[in-house]
Amino acid sequence: MAASSSVTAFHSLRPPDGAFDEDAALATLRHEDPVHWEDPPGWWLITRHADVKHISRNPGIFSSRPRGPWHALESRFSMQADDGPTHRATRSVVSRAFTPRAVARLARSALAYTDEAIDGLITRGRCDIVEDIAIPVPMRVIADILGLESEMELFRAWTHTLTGAFQDDRTPDTARQQAAANDFSAYVRSVVRERSARPGEDLISAMLASEGEGVLQSFARDPLPGVPPGDGVLGFIAFLVAAGSETTRHGIAQGIRALLAWPGQHTLLRARPELMDSAVEEILRWTTPGRALRRTVMSTTELRGKTLRAGDSVVMLYRSANRDEEVFADPECFRVDRQPNEHLSFGIGTHFCLGANLARMELRVTLERILQRLPELRLDPDSPPRHFASSLVDGLASLPALFTPAGPDHGTRGGSSQGRTRL
Ligand code: HEM
Repeated sequence: MAASSSVTAFHSLRPPDGAFDEDAALATLRHEDPVHWEDPPGWWLITRHADVKHISRNPGIFSSRPRGPWHALESRFSMQADDGPTHRATRSVVSRAFTPRAVARLARSALAYTDEAIDGLITRGRCDIVEDIAIPVPMRVIADILGLESEMELFRAWTHTLTGAFQDDRTPDTARQQAAANDFSAYVRSVVRERSARPGEDLISAMLASEGEGVLQSFARDPLPGVPPGDGVLGFIAFLVAAGSETTRHGIAQGIRALLAWPGQHTLLRARPELMDSAVEEILRWTTPGRALRRTVMSTTELRGKTLRAGDSVVMLYRSANRDEEVFADPECFRVDRQPNEHLSFGIGTHFCLGANLARMELRVTLERILQRLPELRLDPDSPPRHFASSLVDGLASLPALFTPAGPDHGTRGGSSQGRTRL
């Protein structure tokens, strides 16, 4: 294998910073060395769609439990980093929050939150899609799922702390961040006391009721910065917030950015709104909000002629799988009518994303309302988008945009004249 500089540049799995063309580097890996040993840090980089599928579908060989040395790519504190009976038990409890009926109910909330966010900015003529819409909407939906919506400000301050922790893989280092984490954990502890005594319909109550079956164990094992060790409930909340709000946030923001970058596709979607479902799938493929996840090899195995030994780490690069020429025609083109679209943005197999339908719904509702209610949306030429750097997710820290402001009589909550959103 010719180790080109673009291949070795994957060393730290840093997102592109302008000097590094990540897609070109991924294409080089796919063609020249699709199962690539990178040392340091000492892991296999997996770039082909078929191989990511194979690894995800064979948990007996490729374990989700972290067994080797830690590194930045571990999501090590959660059900995502678990296997076997405890994973199945946890999954069956958590999945109750994501039934089609539950998602339909949450769609009404997502629509209301999106309209509230847009009502707050519609007369301004400018906004930051990330800060004003893509952060608050998914976060409020998760707060609903957990039954924590009464303390949104605490929740928001704490999620900022978590985001910081994800961004640079360090313990929050400012007194303010630590205070936000302390306030939030005190609040969660009071909620746990209350729900233990009087269970509700929310997911925290369901988790507490099933605690004896080991469902909170994997969240207690080795939690996020800012979460005290051994605190399964807080570990669980930290995981769900990260899994469900960071990713969806970047999908919404990068989705809008993609539509603005491909005006022909934007026009097509406006002309044919029935394409919204396939547009959402293409946004998921194109933006791939979850960049990479790791597995540990359990017994020596072969992949494309390479020997992977027990204990080795493999890193599945979802963005590369989603641009694999063997599966996608013209993978570098963003096409809202792409069919079929077998992207792997939600993974596949035993850990397939439990929030996939929720995320699809949130993307559809927010994008529909943004397109319906913010006419002539365009990038702000004086304020370019800022990239969000993380080894786990890929997205935007800000997306400043301009639009034609509505007059004072614009109405609230997206009156019927502003277009309909399917629930
Ligand atoms: C665009 C948004 C999202 C993306 C790209 C995404 C992506 C993923 C991926 C790649 C996995 C892991 C697959 C694996 O290990 O094989 C995953 C797992 C998971 N996701 Fe998502 N996700 C998104 C939204 C959400 C939302 C909204 C929620 C819930 C509020 C959520 C909850 C979960 C959970 C609970 C798991 C763990 C499943 C398991 O380990 O069995 N995700 N997600």
